[in-house]
Amino acid sequence: MKIAVIGARGQYGFDIARELEKEHEIIRFTTDEIDVSKFNTLSAISEIKPNVIVNTAAFFPAERSEDNPETSFAINAIGAYNITKMANSVDAVNVYISSDFVFNGNKGSMYTEEDSTCPVNTYGISKVAGEAYTMLSTKFYIIRSASMFGIAGTRVKNGSNFVESIITKAQNNESINMVSDITMSPTYTKHASSAIAKLISLKAPYGIYNIVNTGSVNWYEFTKYLLESLDIPTDKLHPIKSELQNLKMKRPLFTALMNDKLESLGIKMPTWQVALREYLVEKEHLKV
Ligand SMILES: NC(=O)c1ccc[n+]([C@@H]2O[C@H](COP(=O)([O-])OP(=O)(O)OC[C@H]3O[C@@H](n4cnc5c(N)ncnc54)[C@H](OP(=O)(O)O)[C@@H]3O)[C@@H](O)[C@H]2O)c1
Repeated sequence: MKIAVIGARGQYGFDIARELEKEHEIIRFTTDEIDVSKFNTLSAISEIKPNVIVNTAAFFPAERSEDNPETSFAINAIGAYNITKMANSVDAVNVYISSDFVFNGNKGSMYTEEDSTCPVNTYGISKVAGEAYTMLSTKFYIIRSASMFGIAGTRVKNGSNFVESIITKAQNNESINMVSDITMSPTYTKHASSAIAKLISLKAPYGIYNIVNTGSVNWYEFTKYLLESLDIPTDKLHPIKSELQNLKMKRPLFTALMNDKLESLGIKMPTWQVALREYLVEKEHLKV
């Protein structure tokens, strides 16, 4: 198949393109070539007529959306509208990358694809709008992933990510305060991308899919596991409450996701602990 990947040099897009490339012809797009917020820049897609469009574009990091709701909506929501219009016109499957931040975190147990969305911040609201536009596609997958780390790192952090930031702080012997009351499903972009590739190859029923590494953990425990995996002392790591953090953006407290729908197709995701260790090996922080 011919697959267009938008945001191909982003953290997730890089691995999605890398995984899909094993079986498909990939056409990678960066913001210089396609700006999803401007429909007229999508003409390349109508020329190449891909079978699948993977839309990873997002205004990132999430906190930026609070001060810039217009830009956030232009990319995360109107961008999804434009891609939907284009996907329908070339008869392509539309794959929209979404987030655990579409939930308010009050459920008290892991979220499934059946749960109602109820975002608590601008980023989440814009992603719900992006999902809604994507659902207007004739053929679509909405992929909800969470707390991602991958070899390319996020674009806005110049190729770094939260794992690398923690390692750097620890190596500089800095004190690390990490929230212990926010629980999520940490996810390795390589594993999630491989699952997306399988979903596409299987021609799985269209719809919403949670794709995260299995299990859940709070940020403090995640950081402790990371440091211990690297034999770094944890005496400078301290648990804190999120309310003490003076956060610009309201964060949902519990957004762990369940992969049951994915697993019903025979696609199994490794645990977050396996995922983190594999990432550390890929980044050469750990030797095998
Ligand atoms: N990181 C996470 O923890 C996380 C969690 C859940 C879901 N997600 C979702 O995963 C997706 C990818 O995020 P990421 O972590 O890979 O972040 P990232 O590294 O910042 O990648 C975002 C990509 O979006 C592209 N982009 C930004 N504005 C664009 C525009 N106007 N038109 C076209 N492309 C545009 C960027 O392209 P350029 O590189 O060309 O600038 C960049 O490659 C997003 O949809 C995000 O909501 C991420």
